[in-house]
Order: sequence, then C-alpha cells, then structure tokens
Amino acid sequence: MNKYWWKESIVYQIYPRSFKDSNGDGIGDLRGIIEKLDYLKELGVDVLWLSPVYESPNDDNGYDISNYKGIMKEFGTIEDFDLLLAEAHNRKIKIMMDLVINHSSDEHQWFIESKKSKTNKYRDYYIWRDGKDGLPPNNWGGCFGGSAWELDPQSQMYYLHLFSKKQPDLNWENENLRKEIFSMMKWWLEKGIDGFRMDVINMIGKDQSYPDGIINGISIYADPGNLSKNHPKVHDYLQEMNKEVLSKYDIITVGEAPDVTPSQAIEFVGEDRNELNMVFEFEHMSVGDGPEGKWGETTFDLGEFKTIMSKWQSKLQGKGWNSLYLNNHDQPRMVSRFGNDNKYRIESAKMLATFLHMLTGTPYIYQGEEIGMTNVKFDSINDYKDIETLNAYKGFTESGKKSHNEIMDAIYKRGRDNARTPFQWNDKNNAGFTDGNPWIKVNPNYKYINAQAQLDDENSIFNYYKKVIRLRKKYEIIVYGDYNLILEDNKYIYSYTRKLNDEILLVICNFCENPVLFSIPKDIKYDRKELLISNYIVDIDSIDEIMLKPYEARVYLLKNKA
Ligand code: NOJ
Repeated sequence: MNKYWWKESIVYQIYPRSFKDSNGDGIGDLRGIIEKLDYLKELGVDVLWLSPVYESPNDDNGYDISNYKGIMKEFGTIEDFDLLLAEAHNRKIKIMMDLVINHSSDEHQWFIESKKSKTNKYRDYYIWRDGKDGLPPNNWGGCFGGSAWELDPQSQMYYLHLFSKKQPDLNWENENLRKEIFSMMKWWLEKGIDGFRMDVINMIGKDQSYPDGIINGISIYADPGNLSKNHPKVHDYLQEMNKEVLSKYDIITVGEAPDVTPSQAIEFVGEDRNELNMVFEFEHMSVGDGPEGKWGETTFDLGEFKTIMSKWQSKLQGKGWNSLYLNNHDQPRMVSRFGNDNKYRIESAKMLATFLHMLTGTPYIYQGEEIGMTNVKFDSINDYKDIETLNAYKGFTESGKKSHNEIMDAIYKRGRDNARTPFQWNDKNNAGFTDGNPWIKVNPNYKYINAQAQLDDENSIFNYYKKVIRLRKKYEIIVYGDYNLILEDNKYIYSYTRKLNDEILLVICNFCENPVLFSIPKDIKYDRKELLISNYIVDIDSIDEIMLKPYEARVYLLKNKA
C-alpha cells in the first residue's frame, strides 16, 4: 500500500459559525479560529477542515456560495484568512477548504446573469428545463423537501436545485463553467491551502435526459437516486479536475458521497483512478433507519453496525482509502447517538474515540467531540436555525403526518443543530463562545462540559484524545495494518484486529452499559503483549478473558518472537 501524509493525518472539522467569536457579534469567525490554534496544536491534529467561509447569504449556513473568492463578512476578510493560513502553517497545521460546487447560491453573479434571459452568456451555467403540462420537468425531490425544480416566472422555465431553491445546481456539462471552477480552485491552491473537502461531489453528474425517479410511496417527489448521484459522468468531470488541478499539488482531497457503495467508492478513490483521496460514505450514518429515514423510527443494532463498518474496511483494503467519522455538522453528536450521554458520557466518548481511531482510514474529529459535547433539546422550534430541520417540522406538521411532539423527538435525535450549538470553551457566559448574543443557543450543559475544565484533568476526554492521536503517530500498524473483524456474533462487543508484518493490534470495545465477558479467539497467537491505551484503570492485565466494564475499551499490541 502506498504511503501518503494524508493517510497518516488526523483531520479536525471546524464549523466556523459556532467555533469562536472574536468580535462580539454572536457569530464565530476566522480571528476566533486563530485564537484557538494553540488549543488545536495541543490536541495534536494535522489538518483543519473549514466548513464554508465564503461569501454567502446563509440560506444553508454557507453551503450556498455567492462569491467563491470572497470571505463571508460575518467571518472576517481575506486578510484574516491569509493570517489564519500563515498562523496555522507556522504551527505545522494544514488547512482544507470546503468546496461547494454542485450548486451555488442564487445570489451568485452567475445565477443573477443566468436568470436574465435565455440567451445570456451564463444561462447554461445552470440547469434549465421546460415544465410538462404545468408541472415541473420531472418528479425529483429536493433534499430539503418539495420539488427539486423552481419555476422562474420571467422565462417560464424551471431550474434544478437538489437542495433549497436558493441553491441552484451548476451545469457541469458546460465547459466554461468547469474552466471557471478549476481556475478558482487553483487560485486557492496558489494561496497555499492544503486541500479540499468537496460537498456532495457525487451529485455533479446527472442523467441528461432527466427522467422521472422511482416514486417511493412516501412523497410525491421521488429521490432521484442514481439519476443524480454516482452517475458515470461524475468520473469524467473528476478526472478532468484531477488532471487540470489536483494532480499539480500535494494536497488532501475528500469527497462527500451520499448513497455510495464500496464498489462505487473505489471508482472515486482507487489509487489508479486519478480522482480523489477518499470519500465520506453515509451507510453507517443511516444504521437502523426505517422507511422514513432519519425522521422516522430508528433502532441501533450493533450487529448491523459491525457489518457496515467491516464491509467498508475490508472492501477498500488495498484498493482505496477510507475516511473515518461518527459525526459532523450534519449529524447528531456521536456520544449521544452511539454512546451514552448521561451516566457513561466520559467512558463512552473515550470508547468511541478508541474504536474509530484504530480503524483503517483517516480519522475526522468534529469540533467539540474531543470534549464529549452532546445533543441539545430546545423547548421551542423557534430556537432551531437549520433549514432542513425547519422544513421537516413544517412539512410533517402541515401534512399532519406527525404530531408536534413526534417531530420534536425526531429533531432531538437527529436534527443538524445538535452539532451546531456553540463550542463550549468554559463555564462563563455563553460558554466563552461570544461576548454578544450567540446566533444559536448554547447547550446548557456547558457548565460542566467545557474545554477549560478538561485541559488540566489528566482523565478528561480531551486528554484521552491527545493520547489516541499520538498513538497513531507512533505505531505504523494503526495506519497501515490490515483490518479483521473478530467475535462477529457478539451483540455487545465490537472487537477487531489490525495486522502488519508479525504484529497484531487488538482492539476491544464494549458498546453497552453492562459488564460483558470478552474471550480472545483461540487463533490469535502471541508471545508478548503491550497495553497501548484503555479508558479505565486496568487492574488485571490478562486478555484471555476480560470482564469488560461499561463502555470499556482496550488496545493491545501483540508480538511474536522474531
Ligand atoms: C452537504 C453539507 O454537508 C450540508 O451541510 C449541506 O446542507 C448540503 N451538502 C448542501 O450543500
């Protein structure tokens, strides 16, 4: 397997709006990030992924860009950005930018022009179609609800928007558009940034006949599925992008790819494909979801989770590279979802960190994860800010499909604002995030869950993350060892090995709040063992049989005599 720095790195995702406000306007900003670079250095991460910082009317918190070369005024200026880049590089931290190029904002100059007339030079930068008998061109539904098409009253044509109507999809068929995007990417790379996280990149290629999707019986609008995701055209575009831009720089690239399967993922990340370094797959993020997806009944089953994770680990082995994450700005907090955010918050947060960081792939830490931040429950829907959450609330209540309480419960479990409450820096006003009025309420548990309380506590989640991160730097087996699931049928323990040369890394994680017996499989032979990390004080250091405590995690390095 080829060795690259981005395989050996740990990425930390910053959602700038909620990270640190430096000027009291209640919104996080670039100078706030600069203030906290030493904190991030202390944690030990290598790369910062910044969720979008470009000019935007913020219909979708920056994922609707109106100027790709400008900085959102709430976040600062381009000079602030240059300073952030320089200060990060001084500390040997790289910066990966979010790149949202499936769509722009409807306030981008290209769209303003495109809308002006059918003959405008920019008309074809977007996807315009005639309706059919007074209806949209097809039945595709937008990811935030409703039809994916919006009628423009002036030209009486519809434009496609797979997200909100303020996020019109760009037309990748248009060569001039591609050239402009590639030159914009080069502009950022020439500034010295270190890579791109590409938003819904597997959606840029579309079936040009725009056929109807299969109606799924839940909504009148169908999920266009593979008509707009993973279409073969996306590979033409990415290979062109790679040739024109990416291949000229030593950078990290990760593409967000909803609904991708492992074999499709290899088409994006195969080392002979010349496309991307890795993708964010979503299968494990939908574990236990029923027909209503994230807003319906869900049941977590460790067996199903193991099957999904192991499939991704094994199928990409030797062929491509995984990204590893359990939460981000679109997902609930991982300790609330996969652990226990109450009695065993500290133990389960550490167990999940161990579980994820010992897998094969590049680990991503989402801001606040390293101090065990949890989901939030606001009493009123008016305290929520996320467009997806607000649209879902409106859709379900207006159609009578769910009661207020039912939809609020679903939002508490899966709403995106769970991850977007301000970072909890200390136990002072607004958790030390801002001196002003925060744009979204702070999670009231900041009084006891905050970074300051954890920095000096050697048993804190923060200090555990530091250790986990340093282990990856020290032991090559954690980066390059082969994955193998063990104790497959155990309903409570997720245990796996990594193998490199004559060494075995044994990872043992109890995913439940009861004590469970672990017995080592007979075929794992070793002469010597070394405990690399554990989230409890280990008294009996034998691995033949271990009575694991609630959410206990242990990692051993097993060696055979040479
Ligand atoms: C995925 C991003 O992660 C999400 O936050 C955003 O709403 C959509 N793409 C649309 O850009």
